[in-house]
Amino acid sequence: MSAHIIDGNLLSKELRSQVAERVATLTRQGRQPGLAVILVGDSPASQVYVRNKIKACEDAGIHSVFEKYDAAFSEADLLARVEALNHDPRIHGILVQLPLPAHIDAHKVIEAIAAEKDVDGFHVNNAGLLMTGQPLFRPCTPYGVMKMLESINYPVRGANAVVVGASNIVGKPQAMLLLQAGATVTICNSKTRDLGHHTRNADILVVATGKRNIVTADMVKPGAVVIDVGMNRDDAGKLCGDVDYAPCAEVAGWITPVPGGVGPMTITMLLVNTLEAAERN
Ligand code: GUN
Repeated sequence: MSAHIIDGNLLSKELRSQVAERVATLTRQGRQPGLAVILVGDSPASQVYVRNKIKACEDAGIHSVFEKYDAAFSEADLLARVEALNHDPRIHGILVQLPLPAHIDAHKVIEAIAAEKDVDGFHVNNAGLLMTGQPLFRPCTPYGVMKMLESINYPVRGANAVVVGASNIVGKPQAMLLLQAGATVTICNSKTRDLGHHTRNADILVVATGKRNIVTADMVKPGAVVIDVGMNRDDAGKLCGDVDYAPCAEVAGWITPVPGGVGPMTITMLLVNTLEAAERN
């Protein structure tokens, strides 16, 4: 069997054109959506992610502000910037790119963002709303994964879903969204014994560990949907995910590529969240 590819670029293109239309409507009413992105430090990967986010905003007609600070920027100064943006009427979404340098308490910074501008959905209020089934903002990557499942009309209700990775950014909110959609959810982590025992039972397998080839073909249930959130480099320096792609694609029913899978969907859902923040405003 050779899996169908879920093309994140193609799906993003459709969704982003719908976003652009709604953005244009708000802009005509003098309510152009605005996103502020803050980057502290000079991680090359974060710089690429942030640049892509800003570019996507421009393409969708969303006003964007990019603030870049060097790695020594203090926590107090960062908190002051967040507070200023909380009160800026042109800004509807605030995103502080993670990870932050070690001297800054990321939890403190996230809690300083006004919950109604927390387009990442990481604030405790938003995590709590998600957990209790009344989400305001769904975290962008898991939200994008749900859209990918929707795009193939996958019957999530009653399916066995296995999430590998338990981060606040992906694994935990992913598990919540799948649970709310009616899946039976297992969350695995870096300490899970016999990972394959769990993944082989997965109708939906979401992998978000940052470890290349953590999922091999023998760990995939025939016909499963395999969603690869990983973003790594192989020995030749080429982008790759967490899943051993070519052999897994022989077993799976659907699979997402890296690049061109979940990555563009994360940015698309950031645009959706920013748009919806402005629409609610
Ligand atoms: N770092 C990796 N992914 C993300 C994300 O979705 N949002 C933010 N703010 N930082 C990240």
